[in-house]
Amino acid sequence: MSVIGKTVEIAARYLPDSAADPLLKSHGYIGQARDRVDGPSKVTGAARFTAEYTLDNLAHAALVCSQIATGRVAAIDTAAAEAAPGVVLVVTHRNAPRMKAPDMFDLQTGKGSAPSDLAILQDDRVHWNGQPVAVVVADTLEQAAHAASLIIVDYAVDTPRASFDALKTAAVVPKDILGEPSEITIGDPYKALAGASARVDEVYRTPWYNHNAIEPHATMAIWSDGADTLTVYDSTQCLKRFSGSFERVFDLASGAVTVIAPFVGGGFGGKAALWHHSVICAAAARLAGRPVRLSLTREQVYRDVGGRTLAEQRVALGAHDDGRLAALIHTGITATPDHARYAEQLTFPARHLYASGTLFVGQKVVSLDTVANTWMRAPGESIGTFALESALDELAYALQLDPIELRRRNEPDKDPTKGTPHSSRHLVEAYARGAERFGWSGRSLTPRTQRDGDWLVGQGVATAYYPALRLPATARLVLHGDGTVTVSAAAHEMGMGTATVQIQHAAERLGLRIEKVSFRYGDSSLPDSPMAGGSCQTISIVAAVHAAADMLHQELVRLARRTGGVLADATVTNTHFRDGGLSRVDDSTKTMSLESILGAAGKDQIEVEASSSMPRESMKYSMGSYGAQFCEVRVREDSGEVRIARWLGSFDCGRVLNPKTAASQLRGGIVMGIGMALSEETLFDERNGRIVNPSLSEYHIPVNLDVPDIEILMNDIADEHTPLGAHGIGEIGITGAAAAVANAVYHATGTRVRSLPITLDKLL
Ligand code: MOS
Repeated sequence: MSVIGKTVEIAARYLPDSAADPLLKSHGYIGQARDRVDGPSKVTGAARFTAEYTLDNLAHAALVCSQIATGRVAAIDTAAAEAAPGVVLVVTHRNAPRMKAPDMFDLQTGKGSAPSDLAILQDDRVHWNGQPVAVVVADTLEQAAHAASLIIVDYAVDTPRASFDALKTAAVVPKDILGEPSEITIGDPYKALAGASARVDEVYRTPWYNHNAIEPHATMAIWSDGADTLTVYDSTQCLKRFSGSFERVFDLASGAVTVIAPFVGGGFGGKAALWHHSVICAAAARLAGRPVRLSLTREQVYRDVGGRTLAEQRVALGAHDDGRLAALIHTGITATPDHARYAEQLTFPARHLYASGTLFVGQKVVSLDTVANTWMRAPGESIGTFALESALDELAYALQLDPIELRRRNEPDKDPTKGTPHSSRHLVEAYARGAERFGWSGRSLTPRTQRDGDWLVGQGVATAYYPALRLPATARLVLHGDGTVTVSAAAHEMGMGTATVQIQHAAERLGLRIEKVSFRYGDSSLPDSPMAGGSCQTISIVAAVHAAADMLHQELVRLARRTGGVLADATVTNTHFRDGGLSRVDDSTKTMSLESILGAAGKDQIEVEASSSMPRESMKYSMGSYGAQFCEVRVREDSGEVRIARWLGSFDCGRVLNPKTAASQLRGGIVMGIGMALSEETLFDERNGRIVNPSLSEYHIPVNLDVPDIEILMNDIADEHTPLGAHGIGEIGITGAAAAVANAVYHATGTRVRSLPITLDKLL
């Protein structure tokens, strides 16, 4: 079946002179709080994840990871492992196939997905503590793991660069940060700071954080006979870039690699990149001549998947008497290894949040010998808002001004650094609604004045911010003879509700009952789709489906005219999709069902595919999501124990497509922010660069008892410059969250903690 109208670019749909989408104000499926369509398969166990697929002849792999940070593998004895029961082979740098370095992730080209450009197992060098140095393939996982324990590695050890504090003075300014300038100066902020009526100038520290998605990373690699095509099952949130990266690493033709990820058990950025274990799995399968699965252990997720960089930030704020900012300075140093070079964008919030007379933002990076750092839910904005929003709170106390009022007085009327108008910004409303609901006005203005028995009680607020992004995407629509429609795109379902929301949109767009629509995703051979990242998957795909629906409309009009029936004079402007058919706008009695149009044309289906444009709207507008985090803590006076007592997040994220899935994502982000604030921290042994707490028993993520009911409010105001008026919601929930906790802890105790996590010792 041929595809009609392959990849037509729909120009400038979201720019100001474009026609408004009628669905911006519709009241059908869009906006309904619907259950996730994949819910039943998740709770019954029918949904399968990468490590749950099996095959005849599947072999299992186990990694051997370096126990030094830098140096060489001087000798590696694999004899005992090779002789162990069930072992198929052992792969080290001595016998690994030649593989190219993967392309680093490149935002501009849309290509590459690697967090590190090391070619793995190609030489004897060790670059971080935990780097894979060998992999054992055996008939069973137990045999592989046992044999891996028999491998003896002798290292020639070099002294690693492992101490951030010892090396931070050598930090350098990176050439750019995700395509944005590393530094921006407006006026003379240092002079303005010196002359300000009130000032705050503090340093904020955040530790390393590691990814702990519920599903550890896993890969299953299946080569064709002749090894010219490769199928990879992988828990990835980045199908298309993944398949391209495999093609480059193994020097295969374009299209030779298919990546399949039907479900992903949480990603948060940690599965957006091609990590080395996936490449190693494919290399092992090639050498073994049979399919191989490699699942990381929880410990190996710490060793071989990077997390959030540690950071030291300075925020200096100078204000006039009335609270308006005269100076805003936000600088920061983060760490990254030479093979990653990723400077986490912690100054991005300060570029967009506040009107200030003068401004300086600037970042530096220091090179350390670690696993590649990577994206982790709102990378940059999460830790950046901790520093910035803590400092705003400190300034509010210095001015004796309510912290919400301080923010209101500094609300900008255009983007502070880009100078562009906001496409949609209603942060002040989000604060007002949140304050009303939370009962903010009853709060004491003086720290350490609210008490309940042994517990000190405090409330804090902080602003949440994340950019509203869109990326070009392609979608396919197939209208079947029975009037059902299949939407497909190489999209990802990590638990967010991807399929649910896309089905809601397509059903409403095409005038179909929701049961008639299904969504295919999770396969790189489907039409191109951006990664599930940057909180932009939903609207990116919606834009492509919109374009494809227009194309389907055109085709149906053409076929309907040919029937010579009630729609003989149909055009795309005088008809619309309605109740499972195509109808005249001016006379709904002139209707043909979609089945009857197909039937009359003698077709069993129509297939269309269309792409959305580049996000040119983001050059005209400052596009962001905003929110107000309200937190109440109780701190036990004698022990310093912090309990989150109440939480309310009030968000301005454009129009809400599904309040149920949206609130769930926002809550998830806040839970992760609570972990960041109170308990999560990756600890390194600086002598050898080794993570010493690589497990959930020693790296503490919040559990149910750590999290209160989280109330979510959403402004639900459409941004007419985004598809369906919506913004992304996957990441903003974590932003501002740690600052809201720290600010509440200060309000409760009078102790300002500027170094996360806020553990008991810092409050005693
Ligand atoms: Mo997100 S850190 O872009 O998965």
